[in-house]
Amino acid sequence: MTDLRAGSAHDANEPITGRVRVWDPLVRIFHWSLVVAFAIAWLTAEETQALHELAGYAVAGLVGFRVIWGFVGGHYARFAQFVKGPGATLAYLGDIVRGGERRYLGHNPAGAMMTLALLATLAGTAFTGWLMAEPERVAMLPDMPRIVAPTWADDDGDEYRNGGDFEAGGPLKDVHETLANLMLLLAALHVGGVALASVRHHENLVRAMVTGDKRPPEPGDIA
Ligand code: HEM
Ligand code: HEM
Repeated sequence: MTDLRAGSAHDANEPITGRVRVWDPLVRIFHWSLVVAFAIAWLTAEETQALHELAGYAVAGLVGFRVIWGFVGGHYARFAQFVKGPGATLAYLGDIVRGGERRYLGHNPAGAMMTLALLATLAGTAFTGWLMAEPERVAMLPDMPRIVAPTWADDDGDEYRNGGDFEAGGPLKDVHETLANLMLLLAALHVGGVALASVRHHENLVRAMVTGDKRPPEPGDIA
């Protein structure tokens, strides 16, 4: 019988269980650590600044790891395996509406696009948080490309020192908050997409993100 396991952590002596390894251990640890760190960052915003920043840095570190892992990780963790163009994503969304979308073992094109959107938005949220946490960091902004500078030029002055202390605020805080709110929207859509795919393909994708394993591909599925 052929060994169906395709992830990076395969032990050749392991018995074949009729499941296919899709998410390698580091992707799974990454995912659930990210959910926890993001939840802490969200819940501590404006409450406990030190914990908020710590959780935000944890998010940034996890995203950094995932970008590297997207090039060197297990088969299904690699960007080259799952990233598709906008055309393929729109076509897949059309298939979902018509009810004929195919099952993918790794990320489907919509899930792949969502993965990139989540990673980029998280990076942007953490970066703007880092920038506004210290005034010296903000001082770097004028040296940044013009695409960033106009946002800053539009400030109303409330980001400047207040009695000697830096008071975070102004347009950067608005950008940080908007990105954090966008993250909530994306996370909700993400969980909705996971639930939809789980129902449509009769498989518990949340459990797959815990165990790493999925049902082997059937005819018509994309492995
Ligand atoms: C508790 C709610 C959540 C559940 C049940 C959940 C579940 C999942 C599942 C099942 C996948 C794999 C999807 C697939 O099979 O294609 C996945 C992927 C992913 N999720 Fe979540 N998720 C949750 C919350 C979040 C949140 C809050 C974030 C961001 C902060 C997030 C970020 C991601 C990312 C980046 C991936 C891509 C994984 C990778 O390729 O490394 N998830 N999630
Ligand atoms: C990616 C994870 C993060 C999320 C989801 C997040 C979310 C938020 C939210 C929702 C707010 C409240 C904005 C408002 O209504 O005033 C906030 C404020 C703030 N965040 Fe973050 N943040 C993250 C990362 C960071 C990081 C890495 C830092 C700094 C190292 C940071 C520093 C701050 C600061 C200084 C404020 C303003 C607090 C105040 O003046 O009330 N954040 N963040």
